[in-house]
Amino acid sequence: MQTIRYGGDYNPEQWPEATWREDVRLMREAGVDLVSLGVFNWGLIEPARGEYDWTDLDRIVALLHEHGIGINLGTPTSSPPAWLRKAHPEIRLVDFEGRTLAGGSRHGVCPSSPVYREACAAIVEQLAVRYGAHPGVELWHVHNEYGWANVECYCEVSALAFQAWLADKYEDVDRLNEAWGTAFWGLVYRSFDQVEAPSAAPPGVNPALRLDWKRFSNDQHIANYRLQRDVIAKHSKAPATTNFMIPNCEGMDYWRWAGEVDVVSNNHYLIAEREDHQIELSMSADLTRAVAGGPWMIMEHSTSAVNWQPRNIAKTPGELRRNSLAHVARGADGLMFFQWRASRAGAEKFHSAMVPHGGTDTELWRDVVALGGDLKALSAVVGTEVGADVAVLWDWEAWWALELEWRPSVDLRFRERVEAYYASLWKQHVTVDFAHPEADLSAYRLVVAPSSYALSDAASKNLRGYVEHGGHLVVSYFSGIVNEHDTVHAGPHPGALRETLGLWIEEFHPLREGEGLAIEADPGAGVESAASGRPCLETGARGRIWSEHVRLDGARAVARFASGPDAGRPALTRHDLGRGTAWYAATALDEATGLDELLATALDAAGVERPAGIPGGVEFVRRGPMSFLINHSDQDVTVPGLRGTDVLTGVAHQRSVPVPAGEVVILTD
Ligand code: GAL
Repeated sequence: MQTIRYGGDYNPEQWPEATWREDVRLMREAGVDLVSLGVFNWGLIEPARGEYDWTDLDRIVALLHEHGIGINLGTPTSSPPAWLRKAHPEIRLVDFEGRTLAGGSRHGVCPSSPVYREACAAIVEQLAVRYGAHPGVELWHVHNEYGWANVECYCEVSALAFQAWLADKYEDVDRLNEAWGTAFWGLVYRSFDQVEAPSAAPPGVNPALRLDWKRFSNDQHIANYRLQRDVIAKHSKAPATTNFMIPNCEGMDYWRWAGEVDVVSNNHYLIAEREDHQIELSMSADLTRAVAGGPWMIMEHSTSAVNWQPRNIAKTPGELRRNSLAHVARGADGLMFFQWRASRAGAEKFHSAMVPHGGTDTELWRDVVALGGDLKALSAVVGTEVGADVAVLWDWEAWWALELEWRPSVDLRFRERVEAYYASLWKQHVTVDFAHPEADLSAYRLVVAPSSYALSDAASKNLRGYVEHGGHLVVSYFSGIVNEHDTVHAGPHPGALRETLGLWIEEFHPLREGEGLAIEADPGAGVESAASGRPCLETGARGRIWSEHVRLDGARAVARFASGPDAGRPALTRHDLGRGTAWYAATALDEATGLDELLATALDAAGVERPAGIPGGVEFVRRGPMSFLINHSDQDVTVPGLRGTDVLTGVAHQRSVPVPAGEVVILTD
């Protein structure tokens, strides 16, 4: 029977051999059955070019295997050895300002460097030949966090690689000029070798250049991954993964990465000082599941504090368990931590671990052991799906495009809006998927587009078809404005959504910092959903950040601005198109000032069922045969209307389920 895999990054090279034996004993005590090994050991296993020292790694691999602990074997290429930098200074990373970055850390290499790539292929080949058929090696952990600190490199080699990438993409430089709109400021190119890498420059750099640079940079990392994966595949049948950083690495377009890996794995760390960090965790997990298209694994999270935030807040009692089980609820089939044993030396010694500096007579160790036990009871969820009737649109390219320079307002932030909409749905106990705007959306009753500034023609058609065929769509302001090259769609805004939304925009009216607007139901507005029995945004709604002059062309106003530059004009509209409905919010609504109400109305209109009576602060997710209830509040609660058996305690509940403060209850049908 399959179980949820449990473990973490294991760095035995930092410890004497006596500790390794203690480690495997403790791993077994905690139920650890998979460890990531050798993620950063290049400088140890290849002390000089072409010279290899396998003494320790051979022994550790044998020891783990002997104790039944599976190995997720790392390729150590995110921390190139000092000898390689010394022999080939040209591999060093050059940042946006043109500074060449020094060594003494990891990741400081140019992703496009042929010298670096060749050295990677060589060490990976050695590892794959030596361990590829070892029965203990169950998974390959290729590299570590592609794009962590070297998403983009601005060296000469990168610039040349960019020109080659452009030539490959556009074939003819006139096609590039057309796509990039280089007639503007006469920034036309006569040959590909005239295009420079967009490092620090005077303001107003062509946004299309910046967007293709970001695509190029992402592709360079994918190429590096493929190189290693293909070397490994020659010698090993074990699947390969690389750890993503969803959603906190803006530079990697993980929709493009998804098809490259055998298993999607993700690293997620709480942004500890955020009060709503458990919601951000859920969002990360839901987005990772969407990228994976099914179950996935968390490759790294922390048992308690990290060491790299301004204030590294420790987890509160029970939080480790709540966080871990939230990942499982949202599709994780593997639960790994960074790292097994807290380091004594180096940059990460103040990072929590499964075995803390304080040893095993600690709350933290007891929590780690208890979690290992809990996971064994959850085998029935392995491989199962998480059902969702609602999708939130997410597109890394739209994120990149929105946050380039010279937008109508600096307050237009991709994650600000996505997180606002996501949090409102989370609090209404609605489990969502994420989806790319060009993806098949027909399985969803409701699709929400909180920040879709850039939409391709294909996405525009897709969203229109979705609504016409009976879908319900909620769109927030400044969406559908440009195409994938940051060129405004022809005609009035929002060109990609004009027909779908049944309106056009005469002028944008961004607000001053801190300015708020009153919104009132349209005097003629009817009841928008039977459940509420009244018009939407009837009372107390307010807008922030944005206002605009909306002109109706098929849609009707549900609510209107009552103050500000667009007083009296539509603020919330509804367009019934074909068999579906498209809603549009022309300003930034927040939970208590209209967003909850708008989404509740749209959910009702779309017929999305929500569990009734779940108290606030309780996260509710259905996965496979199990219902997860995670109480993030400090109040004991009772959830009415649920029945089932608690998987962890065996207690049967007939009508209602008590969930003590900070606890997790998992029911099976
Ligand atoms: C990750 C990284 C790990 C470790 C961890 C600390 O970004 O992959 O190696 O540094 O952060 O939180």
